[in-house]
Amino acid sequence: MYAHTIREERFGDPVDAFCLEYVDTPEIGEDECLVAVMATGINYNGIWAGYGRPINVIDGHRRRGDHRGYHVAGSEASGIVYEVGSAVSTVKVGDHVVLHGGWWDCRCPRIRAGEDPMLTPSHLVWGYETNDGSFGQFTRVKAHQVLSKPAHLTWEEAAVYTVNGGAAYRGLFGFEEHRVRRGDVVLVWGGAGGLGTLAIQLVVAAGGRPIAVVSDDAKSECCRALGAVGVINRKKFDHWGVIPDWRDAEAYHQWLSGARAFGKEIWRVLGERRNPRIVFEHPGESTLPTSCFVCAEGGMVVICAGTTGYTASLDLRRHWMRQKRLQGTHGANTAQYRAFNDMIASGVVDPCLSRTFTFDQLPEAHQLMHLGQHPYGNMAALVGAPEMGLGREERG
Ligand SMILES: NC(=O)c1ccc[n+]([C@@H]2O[C@H](COP(=O)([O-])OP(=O)(O)OC[C@H]3O[C@@H](n4cnc5c(N)ncnc54)[C@H](OP(=O)(O)O)[C@@H]3O)[C@@H](O)[C@H]2O)c1
Repeated sequence: MYAHTIREERFGDPVDAFCLEYVDTPEIGEDECLVAVMATGINYNGIWAGYGRPINVIDGHRRRGDHRGYHVAGSEASGIVYEVGSAVSTVKVGDHVVLHGGWWDCRCPRIRAGEDPMLTPSHLVWGYETNDGSFGQFTRVKAHQVLSKPAHLTWEEAAVYTVNGGAAYRGLFGFEEHRVRRGDVVLVWGGAGGLGTLAIQLVVAAGGRPIAVVSDDAKSECCRALGAVGVINRKKFDHWGVIPDWRDAEAYHQWLSGARAFGKEIWRVLGERRNPRIVFEHPGESTLPTSCFVCAEGGMVVICAGTTGYTASLDLRRHWMRQKRLQGTHGANTAQYRAFNDMIASGVVDPCLSRTFTFDQLPEAHQLMHLGQHPYGNMAALVGAPEMGLGREERG
């Protein structure tokens, strides 16, 4: 089959890291399915895999006994089931499906005992930590990764939402005390981005009041159309990054005035003096100190990435005195992916497909994302689907 591969000697920018090669079609195990990929989503996993950081994915494969020397990335897709393993009863050949990126071994005793698979040792991110992802004509997945394709979506629309949607769903509804409730103010960083566009819609669906942060006023309309009650342009502020040492009173107070001004901007766009009960974080190093500062007493900052860097700081005094929660989150479990897929299927959430690329253009799509020049929402690349707009099924 044809696949875009990544090899160690090409680690670097996406346009250099990816190369279209002719490789063996993956063989499946008894609990797995081979899926003919119709379209794939484009997300940061492909960029991180292509750079070999924060983890060297090829090295990871070698340690798990896979010595093929290449990695086929891609952690979300739509497609048609082509073959199923002998133990698979939940999926059949010919099913039109959507694939999520949570790979784990259902035979794990802790999973069988009811533990969240995301917190068990066999959990890996498919197409990132596992090989044979969705950037090939065929992909190999565990049967439990397979969801029904919403009938009203094209192949490309159906390919773009499980990575960001799963993470947004778990972040906003996965931590019991801090599930978004009716009336909650929720601050969403990168409101016009892949995660942000889906997170805004989830907050609205729960009756919450999302406030989006963007870097360009041109993105405001997109966020408002999705339901944001207010939009903040982060370019009006310059206090970003690690908090200066509190012993350096002048530098610390300069940072504090920046964070306070950002907090007041939240009150201004909201029309009342109220802090967000939940802050949906992913830029990381640059924004986490501010997120922790503006989060309401007893609220939660939930973080699933560190796109701007991994060394974040927070002022512990405000953290314990105001009893805030800083919660890491990653991917989703089956129930959460299914719940999100149902919201897409019922039309409550739109996948926000921004642009569809051809299979050949897949490295270019990643390069645009890497440079921050990609369009709002979520991008797709066609793989088996011959043209855009196919895959919508007639309703009876
Ligand atoms: N752990 C998980 O399960 C999981 C799942 C999905 C995604 N992720 C990660 O989440 C991150 C975002 O993914 P995405 O698909 O949403 O990317 P995206 O479409 O590029 O959106 C990210 C947004 O972040 C904003 N941003 C960029 N630099 C920023 C900065 N310095 N300060 C504040 N905001 C900034 C940008 O909006 P503005 O410039 O308009 O502010 C951009 O639209 C990636 O690192 C990805 O790997 C993790």
